[in-house]
Amino acid sequence: MSKAKYTVTAALPYANGPLHLGHVAGVYLPADIFVRFLRMNEHDVAFICGSDEHGAAITLRAKKEGITPQEIVDKYNKQIGDSFKDFDISFDIFHRTSTPIHHETAQEFFKVLHAKGKLTQETSEQYYDEEYSQFLADRYITGECPKCQNPSAYGDQCEKCGSDLSPTELINPTSTLSGKTPVLRTTSHWYLPMDRHEDWLREWIKEGKLDGVQQHDPKLWRNQVNGQCMSWIDGGLHSRAMTRDLDWGVKVPLADSEGKVLYVWLDAPIGYISATKQWALDNNKDWKNYWTGDRKLVHFIGKDNIVFHAIIFPILLKDHGDLILPDNVPAYEFLNLEGDKFSTSRNWAVWLHEYMASYPERSDELKYVLTSIAPESKDSEFTWKEYQTRINSELADILGNFVNRAMVLTQKYYEGAVPAKGELTEEDNRVLAEMKAIPARISKLVYAYKLRDAQAEAMNLARLGNKYLAETEPWKLVKTDLERVKTIMNIALQITANLSIVLQPFLPATAKKISQFLNFNTSDWTKAGNDDLLKSGNMTNVASILFAKIEDIVVETEVAKLESVKEVVSSFEPQKEAINFEDFGKMDIRLGTILSAEKVEKADKLLKLIIDTGIDKRTVVSGIAQHYTPEEVVGKTVSVLMNLAPRKIKGIESQGMILMAEDIEGKLSFMTPEKGFEAGGSIC
Ligand code: 2FM
Ligand code: ZN
Repeated sequence: MSKAKYTVTAALPYANGPLHLGHVAGVYLPADIFVRFLRMNEHDVAFICGSDEHGAAITLRAKKEGITPQEIVDKYNKQIGDSFKDFDISFDIFHRTSTPIHHETAQEFFKVLHAKGKLTQETSEQYYDEEYSQFLADRYITGECPKCQNPSAYGDQCEKCGSDLSPTELINPTSTLSGKTPVLRTTSHWYLPMDRHEDWLREWIKEGKLDGVQQHDPKLWRNQVNGQCMSWIDGGLHSRAMTRDLDWGVKVPLADSEGKVLYVWLDAPIGYISATKQWALDNNKDWKNYWTGDRKLVHFIGKDNIVFHAIIFPILLKDHGDLILPDNVPAYEFLNLEGDKFSTSRNWAVWLHEYMASYPERSDELKYVLTSIAPESKDSEFTWKEYQTRINSELADILGNFVNRAMVLTQKYYEGAVPAKGELTEEDNRVLAEMKAIPARISKLVYAYKLRDAQAEAMNLARLGNKYLAETEPWKLVKTDLERVKTIMNIALQITANLSIVLQPFLPATAKKISQFLNFNTSDWTKAGNDDLLKSGNMTNVASILFAKIEDIVVETEVAKLESVKEVVSSFEPQKEAINFEDFGKMDIRLGTILSAEKVEKADKLLKLIIDTGIDKRTVVSGIAQHYTPEEVVGKTVSVLMNLAPRKIKGIESQGMILMAEDIEGKLSFMTPEKGFEAGGSIC
C-alpha cells in the first residue's frame, strides 16, 4: 500500500505581535512534531504556514503603535519568522498574506464562488462610526454580550462565553475607534449562505462521509472539535458576510465594490493555498498535487479557530470544487502561565524570541516541557518551576544520565568501540522486546494526534535503558564477568541508537547530538526497534553532557520578571490608544499662577482655584484637596487645560482643568517648568 500523502498547515499567526509560549505549545510545536514524524516515515508532506496580515487585528495594532498597517506586518512577520527559525520549526514555507500571489489567489477563489452562485448579496443596516467614517465590524465594535452579559464582547465573538456574535446583537455598542456610540447605515455585502450546508456538514463531521463516501475517521477528531461543530450546526447555521467595508485587505474583485475587502476568513485560510503555490513555484512542483486527490489535509489550530477550519473553510473548499476537505483539524485548548491567562496586552507572557535570546542552546528543553504539558484535551499551565523540574529530573536525570553512562562506560572499557553481544539472558530478551515495541506505540499515538503521550513513550525508552543499567550494574560486574559486561553495554548502546531515532520528531537537536556521539545517523523510522543498529567494533565518540541542570536562580529570575510585569500593570493605567498630531493640537494647555484657593463646601476632595492664565483670570475646580491645603497652593505654577468645555461642579462653573502628576501610590503633585515662565506660556 502506498503511503498516505499529507498537506499539514499551522494556523497563520496574525502579524500583530510576537509569539508567546501559548501559541507555540498549542499549534506550532505539535504540528512540527507531527510533520517530522511523517517525513521520517516517508510520507510525501508539505508543511505550510505564514503570517496573516489583514483584518482588524492588524489595523487596530497599527493604530495603537501609531504606524501604518504595512509597517506593522513587516515588523512582526520578520520577528515571528525569525523566532520560528531560531526555535527550529521545520515549515516548508513561512509565507505572507500581503503578497501579490496571495491577493490573486484569494480574489480568484472569490470569483469562482461568485460565478457559481455560491454567494448571495444582501443589503443591511450596519453600525457606522461617523467620526472615523467607517463601518464597524468584528473588533472595531464592542458591547455587552447578549448571552453572558460580558461587558466587553467584540462584534464577531464573545471571548468569555465563546458565542459567535454579530455587531447588531451587542447591547450598548461602542466604536473601538472613537469610543462613541455608532449609528446605523445601509451597506451591501456578499454573504455565504451557510444554512444550505447543514445536511452534508452533519454527515461529514459525525460520520466522516461525503455523499456517502468515507473521507476520514471521525473517531480521530477531538471531542472538542466535534462538540463545537455539532453545537453550531444544531443551533442552525446562518448567512455570514464574507466581505467588509475596509481599506486594508484583499480587494473584492468585482466592479462597484470600491472600499470593500474580503472578510479575513475568506482570506487567511486561502493563505494556506497561496503559500503552497509559492512553495511549489520555488521548488518546481505543482501546487495542485497538494490540494487535490488522495491527500490528507490537516489543520493544526487553537480552539478559537475550530469553526472556521471545520465548518466555514470546508464549505468554501467544497463550494469552490476540485479541492480536498480537511482530514483532521487537531485543535488545542489554551495554555496558561503561572496561574493566569497569557495576555499580549498585559504583557503576561513568555515570548518565544525573548526565550531564544536568553537560552539559545535550550530549544529542545523548551520543546520537551511544552509537549509534556501540551493542552491537548484541556487547558494546561506553564510554570517556570515545572520547567525546571521536568528538565532536571526527566531530561537530565533520565535521558541525559542514561546516554552519558552508556557513552562514558564504552570509552572506559572499550576505548569507544562497540562491544559484541554474547549469550542473552532472560532480562536482556525482555528489555530488547520492550525496546522493539516502543516505536510502534509511538507511531500509533502520533497518527492519533496524541503527541504528549507519544513523547512520554519515547522517554520510556530512556527509562528502560536507565533501569537496565541500574539493575545489571556493569560497573560492578566489570571486576568479575567481562563477557557479560560486553553484552550489557552492547544492549545499552543499541538502546541509545534507538533513542537517536525515536527522539527526532520531539527533540531534534538532542537526537542529532546522540547520533554524533555514536557515529550513527538515520532518519528512517522503520529502523527503530532494531537491536543491531550498531555493529560491534564501530567507533563511538567522547560524549558531552546533553542537558545542563536549570539552577534555582533561573526560575527566580524568570518569575521575578513576570511579577514585575504584574506590578507595572497593576500600578499604572495601560497605555491609551494612539492619537494623531491633529488630536493633540486641539488641546490648549498653558501655564498659570494660582491667585487664590478655598475649600468647596461639602466636598472633601475639591478646591476652588482662581488662576491667572496670562490671558484671563478664571475659576477652576480641582480634585486636589486631599493632597494640598488652600494655603499651600497659592502662588504655585500650574499647567491648565484651557479649552476643556466648562462644566458645573458643586454649583461652581469650572473653566478648565489643571494637570497634575500621579505617582504609584496615587499621590498628586504639580508639574512646574524647570526654568522661569510667564503666565500664558503654552505647553507644546
Ligand atoms: O486566529 C488567528 O490567529 C488568525 N490569524 C487566523 C489563523 S488561521 C488561518 F490562517 F486560517
Ligand atoms: Zn458572552
